[in-house]
Amino acid sequence: MEDTEKRKLSRRSLFKGFAGITGAVGAVAALANSATKADTPISTYSSPSMHHDAHTQMGVVGDVGTQNFDPTRFLTDFDYGEVSKTGGQTVREYTVVAEDVEIEIAPGIFFPAWTYNGTVPGPTIRCTEGDFIRIHFTNTGSHPHTIHFHGIHPGNMDGVFEIVHPGDDFTYEFTAAPYGLHLYHCHSVPLKRHIHKGLYGTFIIDPKDGGRPMVKEKREIKEMVMVMNGFDTNFDGDNEVYAVNTVAFHYQRHQIKLRLNEPVRVYLVNVTEFDPINSFHLHGELYEVYRTGTTLTPHDYTDTLVLCQGERHILEFSFKYPGKYMFHAHQSEFAELGWMGLFDVIDEEAPIA
Ligand code: CU
Ligand code: CU
Repeated sequence: MEDTEKRKLSRRSLFKGFAGITGAVGAVAALANSATKADTPISTYSSPSMHHDAHTQMGVVGDVGTQNFDPTRFLTDFDYGEVSKTGGQTVREYTVVAEDVEIEIAPGIFFPAWTYNGTVPGPTIRCTEGDFIRIHFTNTGSHPHTIHFHGIHPGNMDGVFEIVHPGDDFTYEFTAAPYGLHLYHCHSVPLKRHIHKGLYGTFIIDPKDGGRPMVKEKREIKEMVMVMNGFDTNFDGDNEVYAVNTVAFHYQRHQIKLRLNEPVRVYLVNVTEFDPINSFHLHGELYEVYRTGTTLTPHDYTDTLVLCQGERHILEFSFKYPGKYMFHAHQSEFAELGWMGLFDVIDEEAPIA
């Protein structure tokens, strides 16, 4: 059998028997344990008991420790840097350290990640168009890395040719432009390996003059960052675990609470490696799409959006009815392997400002 075909089969055949249920952890654990290379350790403990009788929801048994990284906190954890002024221009300085860290991506499933500042994704770097950005980057990891920012900047600040070797550092400097939803990631080769190991993050440049409106129909907008990612736990060039913000099914176990008519703004970034596309599907509502965040006028109104790797958009919506609403990749396979969460809309109007 051709190799790729074999890999695909090994992943997909796991769906037989668990029909997208709590037994998923068994499948995920089995995959994680099937690591074949001795130099790519995956530590797992035997997964908690699989409940084959629970055929009502997807998910996994148990939970993931949040001491190092809490996906719920991450939603609104914006890093505005150290702020100062030079000649009227706002200067923002950030410290980013590349480090090798083992992260937990599903209950009991650990992944030997390469990180920016110890977490995957790295910090959400946020600034305003026209700010002068200075990133102090140090590589304490085991491989050469860089930080490549999307956006406008000089070629020598692009994080492609200035490779930062272990123990070295580099300072990236540029004026933030254009406003929009961007991302940053390592650009060392092999690129797919460096990205998929966890070296990426969100880069938000707010428009000048107060940024995007924070109030819609007199209600305060709730912002959140969602980075769609995947993990190849056995290093076969295929993802075994998918998520938004790294931890499989996190927002199913820790649902995102909303109120009726509460406006939500999602900064959605796709960094999924190996699969050509990922997608965001919302139940019970449709959302407005601001392509790449480089516009203040929505260009689409839909409930399913397809993104290539590196593509990112701002979504805005609010729920008119109370209840629980799924959000997930519309590729069912990704959803069943972790990329699924829930909004819990409580029967209470969002206050009018
Ligand atoms: Cu790298
Ligand atoms: Cu890129």
